Amino acid sequence: MTATDSSPSSSVRPVHIAVVMDGNGRWAKKRGFSRLEGHRRGVENVRAMVENCVRHEVPYLTLFAFSSENWRRPKKEVAWLMRLLDGALDREVKTLHSNGVRLRFIGDLASLAAGIQKKIHQSCELTRENSTLNLTIALNYGGQWDLVQAFRRVLMAVQQGEICLDNLSAELIAENLSTAQIPNPDLFIRTGGEKRMSNFLLWQLAYTELYFTDTYWPDFDTKEFEMALESFATRERRFGGAEHDAIEMEVEDVHA
Ligand code: IPE
Ligand code: IPE
Ligand code: MG
Repeated sequence: MTATDSSPSSSVRPVHIAVVMDGNGRWAKKRGFSRLEGHRRGVENVRAMVENCVRHEVPYLTLFAFSSENWRRPKKEVAWLMRLLDGALDREVKTLHSNGVRLRFIGDLASLAAGIQKKIHQSCELTRENSTLNLTIALNYGGQWDLVQAFRRVLMAVQQGEICLDNLSAELIAENLSTAQIPNPDLFIRTGGEKRMSNFLLWQLAYTELYFTDTYWPDFDTKEFEMALESFATRERRFGGAEHDAIEMEVEDVHA
């Protein structure tokens, strides 16, 4: 059974995993390396994560690569992160494509360098028919940015008379988020020890199971991945409802 089955307790295997890949800097510091080396190792580890999802038949993976707030970092670090991304696109897209991975990017991409925008567009086009794994990279992404752009689109449609304000609904907002084509995450993983969302998928994580580990992202290997899956398998998801057996027992009590 998979996590999108409607029965509340069917959460055995996640359909969609969303990851805050945190701790590259501290991983490097611990070893006496520069933060930049930490980021290089972090990008390298994405390949292992993708392979683990494919092997465990997890069809959706979303990775937080660069937040709207990460521009606050030193210029050199930001430039390095963009260079790493650019290089990864050059090196990895062919292999991803041949392994049936569909690439998507979410975030405010328009303010990125033209060269990266072009590569992003090309890689999404190349892989659009693939379905083994839907890999979404959140780049210059913020949950608040996503909500603002969704509201802007909805309000524009209201202004143009395409929709009536009375028809505003959670579904309508969700359809206008950058994640409209992907199901909400079942499992959220944050590496690196912090227990916060840092402006990731704020709306989409409403009923997501949360998993935090102290392990730094470059060390998040197959064993760590499987530990997260095991933890997920023990969760009882209720989505605001109640466990079925419990309801039936109470009904029996009433009739006793
Ligand atoms: C996460 O690692 C990578 C990005 C935010 C791009 P950090 O760079 O945040 O590493 P720490 O948290 O400083 O250890
Ligand atoms: C979150 O990590 C963003 C990414 C992993 C891309 P940060 O390191 O930026 O988060 P804070 O600053 O600790 O909240
Ligand atoms: Mg961090």
